[in-house]
Amino acid sequence: MQLRKPKRDDRLEVEVERIDERGQGVGRALHESGEYRVALRRALPGERVAAQVLRRRGDRIEGRLLEVLRASEERSTPPCGHYGACGGCSLQDLAYSGQLRAKRELVELALANAGLHVPVEPVLGAASPLRYRNKMDFTFGTRRWVEVGEAEGATRDFALGLHPREQFRKVLDIERCEIQPQAFDRILATARRLALEQALPAWDLVKHEGLLRHVVLRTSVATGEILVQITTSSEAPELVQPYVAALLAAHPEITTLVQAINSRGATVAYGERELVLHGPGSIRERLAGLVYRVSAASFFQTNTAQAERLVEVVLEETAPAAHERGLDLYCGAGTLTLPLARRCAHVHGVELVEAAVADGRRNAEENGLGNVEFSAGDVLAWFESKGALECDFVVVDPPRAGLHAKVVELLARVPARRLVYVSCHIGSAARDLAALAPHGWNVTRVRPVDLFPQTPHVETVLTLERVS
Ligand SMILES: C[S@@+](CC[C@H](N)C(=O)[O-])C[C@H]1O[C@@H](n2cnc3c(N)ncnc32)[C@H](O)[C@@H]1O
Repeated sequence: MQLRKPKRDDRLEVEVERIDERGQGVGRALHESGEYRVALRRALPGERVAAQVLRRRGDRIEGRLLEVLRASEERSTPPCGHYGACGGCSLQDLAYSGQLRAKRELVELALANAGLHVPVEPVLGAASPLRYRNKMDFTFGTRRWVEVGEAEGATRDFALGLHPREQFRKVLDIERCEIQPQAFDRILATARRLALEQALPAWDLVKHEGLLRHVVLRTSVATGEILVQITTSSEAPELVQPYVAALLAAHPEITTLVQAINSRGATVAYGERELVLHGPGSIRERLAGLVYRVSAASFFQTNTAQAERLVEVVLEETAPAAHERGLDLYCGAGTLTLPLARRCAHVHGVELVEAAVADGRRNAEENGLGNVEFSAGDVLAWFESKGALECDFVVVDPPRAGLHAKVVELLARVPARRLVYVSCHIGSAARDLAALAPHGWNVTRVRPVDLFPQTPHVETVLTLERVS
C-alpha cells in the first residue's frame, strides 16, 4: 500500500539544520511516507519547529513557520518594525554571531558541492551590523501594502518605500529602515509628506502613468555629504521644482539633488537623462585612503566600513610587488583598481558600463595615479581582442552570475601567478573555480567578508595559485 505523502496545510515537525542562500531555515521532517527537506522562513539552525506545508515537489517542501518548539539560543528580537512584511533583511531573527556562522556554512557548502574541499575562514563581521548602508533606493507606488490590523482611513493609493516580499506591484511605506542612516529616515518621511501635500501622483507600476518613481539616497561616511536623486517619468519642472525646493528647505543637510528622468516601463531608478538641481551632482567618499567622487548613477560599494576591509583583504591576497602588473576585471569605478595601483607598477581595469569607467578615470586622476588604464567593454570581447597578455596577478569581481565559460577558459591561460576572485554569489564562484582547477589553478584561501548584515548575502575573497 502506498502511504499518503504530505500535502498542502499538513503540519510537520522540522529539525532545522542550516540557512539557505535566500535566508530560509532548511531542515528535515520525518513523515510516515519518508523523510522530507523542508525550507521555511524565520526558522533557525538548531531549532525544532512546527511547519505548515505550502508546496511539495518530490521530497522537497516549502513551509510556513507555525510554532517554534525548541528555540535556538541565538534567536533574537528583530530590530525592524517592518520585518516580516518587507522583502529585505531576512536574517533578523538570528543574533549577529549566528548570521556570521550561517554565512560561513553557506560558503563551505557551495564549495563542497562543487568538489572543492578547502577551509573557509570565519566571516569578517561588521562592527555595526545596523545603520550601515550608504545608499538606499525607495519606490513610489499607487498600491500601498496594507498591514493586517491597520487603522482605517489612511491613504491606500500612495506609498513611498520598499516592495513587500514577492509583491512587486505593491509598495510598503517605510517609516524607519534599520540598516540605513537615521538621516535617511527623516528625508524619506519628508519626501512622502510633501508629495502628498502637493498632490503629486506616484507612478503606477501596472498602468505606467504618474510622475514620481523613485527616491535614491546616498551619503558619504567621510564627509557626511548627502545626495538625493528623485526619479520622475517626465521633466515636469512646474511640479518638480516646488517639490524639490520644499525638500531642500526642510533638509539643509542635503548637499546635492539630482532629478533623473525615466519614461520607460522598467522600474529602475537611473534615468535616460539627469538634471542637477542643487549642488555639484556628486558626493566625495574616502575609501582605503583614496578619495572617490560618487555620482547618482555610479556603482559604489554600499557598506563603506566593510568595503574598507574588503579592499584590505584583496590587497593582502593579491600582495602586489612594486614591479608587478595586474588586471582588474569587472572593475566598476575602480574601488579595487586604484588601491592595487598604489602598490604596483600598473593595473588595467575592464568594465562594461561606460559611466563607471569615466568615473574610474576621473578618480585615478584626482588621486594622482598615472599607472592605471581603463577599458570600457565586455570582459569576454576584451579578452578575445587581446593577443598574448602579460600580467603578474588578476583580480576578478564579476556580477552574481559569475564568469562566462569562455572567460574561464581564457583566464586559465593567463600567465599570472595569482588570481583573486571576489564573489558576491558563492554558488557561481564555486562553479567557476571548479572549472579552473583542471588548468592548474588551486584555491588556497577563502575569506568571506560581511558586507550585508541582516541579509543572507555574503561576499567572499577566494585566492588561487597556479600549481604547474
Ligand atoms: C560586483 S561589481 C564590481 C565592481 C568593482 N570591483 C567594485 O568593487 O566597485 C561587478 C561589475 O561588473 C560589471 N560587469 C557586468 N558584466 C560585465 C561584463 N560582461 N564585462 C565587463 N564588466 C561587466 C558591472 O557593471 C559591475 O560594475
